[in-house]
Amino acid sequence: MSLHVIREILNKEAFSKDDLKVLLSANEEDRNLIFEKAARIKKENVGNKVYFRGLIEYSNRCAKNCYYCGVRSGNAKVQRYSMTDEEVLDAARFALENHFASIVIQAGELFSRVHVLKIGELLLKIKELSQGKLGITLSLGEQTEETYRYWYECGAHRYLLRIETSNPELYRKIHPENKLHSFESRLKALYDLRKTGYQVGTGVMIGLPFQTLDDLAGDLIFFKEFDIDMAGMGPYIEHEDTPLYQYRHLLMPRIERFYLSLKMVALLRILMPDINIAATTAMQTIDPQGREKALMVGANVIMPNLTPLKYRENYLLYQDKPCIDEEAQECQHCLEARIYMAGCEIGWDEWGDSLHFKRKIESQKQ
Ligand code: 5AD
Ligand code: SF4
Ligand code: FES
Repeated sequence: MSLHVIREILNKEAFSKDDLKVLLSANEEDRNLIFEKAARIKKENVGNKVYFRGLIEYSNRCAKNCYYCGVRSGNAKVQRYSMTDEEVLDAARFALENHFASIVIQAGELFSRVHVLKIGELLLKIKELSQGKLGITLSLGEQTEETYRYWYECGAHRYLLRIETSNPELYRKIHPENKLHSFESRLKALYDLRKTGYQVGTGVMIGLPFQTLDDLAGDLIFFKEFDIDMAGMGPYIEHEDTPLYQYRHLLMPRIERFYLSLKMVALLRILMPDINIAATTAMQTIDPQGREKALMVGANVIMPNLTPLKYRENYLLYQDKPCIDEEAQECQHCLEARIYMAGCEIGWDEWGDSLHFKRKIESQKQ
């Protein structure tokens, strides 16, 4: 594909699926054009501030058995843990004292009443300890509409639930075929979250076995059509204790998965100029400067890990995850330096809510 073709497509008002496929296949020279355009659009729409969301990996217990994930219930090698209330509150306090303004509580999918109530209690306690100052995002999987509403009422206001892939056939290939892992319920959960009032974030894994550029172009169109508020995407990284590992010979080299992920971030920024996009940890697994590179081509959110060190090795969704041995403080300093090097500033003490969401709410009021 020539530079000329890429330039012509980038100048269009809207991209067709075929356009997106051509852009996603851009080579080393051509992809810089995409990155430059995305960087410009980012600057004009969300500026150069990066918002911190302190990540608390609350528990690795999970009822599900996704074929790609290292903490799937079928992996007996993982030692299961849940953080104590005190540990969660300490992590929240760390975020507050270090001016992070927001946290993310993430865990495997659990549905028991005890779990649902426990999360509600923690939300109330975090709101109390921070006097409402900490913004709280949840990433706790598919739940009932009632649970989503209950957690919202307890103080959570953003929710991350990746669709993983917008192609139902591919979804079936990377999950067990049963009710617990249905594409339709995943989609319904996203609609329920939207209805409840959350800022909704979703995303996909990039470079999965069996995944094509057509699938990824479809993912971008899905994000736009669903009108998401936030996104988190990253390369798929194989884990030897998972069923998908047997297909590792089908994977593209890691560095290609990385650049494909960067192109996905950049194209999403072009398609949706005012949403929040995370520079994900999986990007850094492949390239030591992966997260900075994502910031430079469109991302504006980073999730420093606040999980106590003793639990980190048990929260390996994929192998070679970085920052397993670094204390929260170390990661914070490391990240600060990296962000400045990427030419960005940090939005200390700012929630940094999705502008896209705010605008939607405003226009609904009118
Ligand atoms: N590689 C990359 N990302 C993964 N996730 C789970 N397993 C992997 C993997 N092997 C992602 C999924 C999930 C999120 C919490 O982590 O997209 O939604
Ligand atoms: Fe559980 Fe999430 Fe891993 Fe699936 S991806 S097994 S739901 S922790
Ligand atoms: Fe964790 Fe650099 S971000 S050590």
